[in-house]
Amino acid sequence: MPEKKIIAVAGATGQQGGGLVRAILNDKNGNFTARAITRDPNSDKARALRDLGANVVQADLHNEDSVRRAFEGAYGAYCVTFFWEHMSPAKEFAEAMNLATAAQKEGLQHVVWSTLEDTRESIPLDDDRMPTLSGTFKVPHFDVKAEADKLFREVPTTYLLASFYWENLLAPGSGPQPDAQGNLVLSLPMGDQKLPGIAAEDIGKGAYGMFKRGPELAGKRIGLAGEQLTGNEMAEKYSKVLGRPVRYNAVPFDVFRGLGFPAAQELGNMFQFYTEFAEDLGKTRDVAFSRELNPELQDFDAWLSRNKEHLLD
Ligand SMILES: NC(=O)c1ccc[n+]([C@@H]2O[C@H](COP(=O)([O-])OP(=O)(O)OC[C@H]3O[C@@H](n4cnc5c(N)ncnc54)[C@H](OP(=O)(O)O)[C@@H]3O)[C@@H](O)[C@H]2O)c1
Repeated sequence: MPEKKIIAVAGATGQQGGGLVRAILNDKNGNFTARAITRDPNSDKARALRDLGANVVQADLHNEDSVRRAFEGAYGAYCVTFFWEHMSPAKEFAEAMNLATAAQKEGLQHVVWSTLEDTRESIPLDDDRMPTLSGTFKVPHFDVKAEADKLFREVPTTYLLASFYWENLLAPGSGPQPDAQGNLVLSLPMGDQKLPGIAAEDIGKGAYGMFKRGPELAGKRIGLAGEQLTGNEMAEKYSKVLGRPVRYNAVPFDVFRGLGFPAAQELGNMFQFYTEFAEDLGKTRDVAFSRELNPELQDFDAWLSRNKEHLLD
């Protein structure tokens, strides 16, 4: 049997990377093997990946040499950066720089880079329909990833555009909440537009589909989504699985931006971008192609059923 090709996976103990590591390891007859990158190989999550059969290695994305060692001898790499660890565009760009530089220096044959749109191409900085953040961004965690796209030009790279994780709706206060009368309300700032969503695990599975297709996908921008739904459609599906009515409440963007939690402005801008450019974002994230790459792709009904016990936590 030919030797398996190594895919080095950043964020292996996290949602996107973890999904990819499990997809690789579950495909026993596949051509790939997973090298899981973590800052702490002794953590419970790292041990769990080792137990599944991953080769776990230590690296910090803020240390280029450590990333080079993690990429050495690999065929490909999954490159994802971690905005929410620090909420610093400069740090996220530095993570992308170290990943791209290491990929180039180690001569990787295929990289999948987890990126997003540059919202400023649609909403220039001087457009005051939303505030400018951190000086030069509208949605920093989108814009800085898009800025980093150019760093991957020298390596055969597939640009993966993720969608809104449905797991975000499991965070405290995020899914359906009871109003004063005890009726369940799903509040999202999405107007009447469709939000492309996905089960986080399916991002990794989709990335695995990209590695299986190989460098024929290099240079391509491919969005992944499990389903695209309006707030009303999501509420209806919640109602069915919970067996009680859920109403959708379209939160105005300015009200969301004013909620006062640390990322309220950034996420308010993000939802406004998702809403006002829903048609374009929907086209980029083709559900049928996402399913071709990952035949096990979950739609929202399937995701709700799997998470039924936690929907109202
Ligand atoms: N939430 C959404 O809806 C959504 C949608 C689209 C895109 N995104 C993007 O997804 C990205 C995050 O991906 P994710 O959700 O898969 O992350 P995650 O689940 O939060 O996992 C992050 C993992 O990254 C590792 N990590 C953090 N800092 C590191 C560093 N300096 N060096 C090496 N490893 C580091 C951590 O592993 P160790 O602790 O083991 O080192 C952690 O397990 C963000 O940039 C976000 O903008 C999110």
